[in-house]
Amino acid sequence: MITCIGIACSPRRQGNTSLLLEHALEGAARGGARTELIALSDYSFMPCQGCNACSSDGECILKDDMQQIYQKLLAADRLILAAPIFSMNLNAQAKALIDRSQRFWSTKFILKRPVITDATARPKRAGIFLSTCGTAFPDMFDCAAKVVRYYFDMLEIKYEGGHFYWRIDAKGAIINHPTAFQEVFEAGRRLVSQG
Ligand SMILES: Cc1cc2nc3c(=O)[nH]c(=O)nc-3n(C[C@H](O)[C@H](O)[C@H](O)COP(=O)(O)O)c2cc1C
Repeated sequence: MITCIGIACSPRRQGNTSLLLEHALEGAARGGARTELIALSDYSFMPCQGCNACSSDGECILKDDMQQIYQKLLAADRLILAAPIFSMNLNAQAKALIDRSQRFWSTKFILKRPVITDATARPKRAGIFLSTCGTAFPDMFDCAAKVVRYYFDMLEIKYEGGHFYWRIDAKGAIINHPTAFQEVFEAGRRLVSQG
């Protein structure tokens, strides 16, 4: 059975991106995956300190809740990352998650070792990105999507695209969107059905 994890990066419980994630994970479950929703706000971890210790062994020396998330990231076959736009980019919690994943970047690009050591024995990893923003500026998701593509590459996860919703600002405003929940449900189902 494929394992699909969803990471909710917004600090807002039951906020727009978390609601999207719930529907996407429902789709993944309908597609036959074992799913888990990880709310980042339940975990306490420091921002990356830039010590570069991971460049010598691919490990992070900070012993906090991120150690649990590392294990989940490594074990997952599918990843759905859900994060809102704050100040034209990913919100700080999502960025902290990515910065703290520097150990995987070091593994791949400095130590030149695979992040997933048993990749041939596992389903190919793939993921999608879900986001909302308050404004209607067409390029509002450009920076965030770029960072998430970089992140997925670091994690040896094929980026299967993003689902972005503009003019969604108040908590729960996404509920009134005519197609969003159905779209991400289908995206979640598709994600676990391929490969
Ligand atoms: C600190 C902060 C910064 C924000 N910056 C932007 C922004 O640069 N562009 C934008 O369109 N919306 C911005 N927003 C609006 C959020 O992207 C929007 O409310 C989103 O739907 C929140 O998702 P959530 O409910 O999952 O947290 C910002 C909101 C906050 C709280």
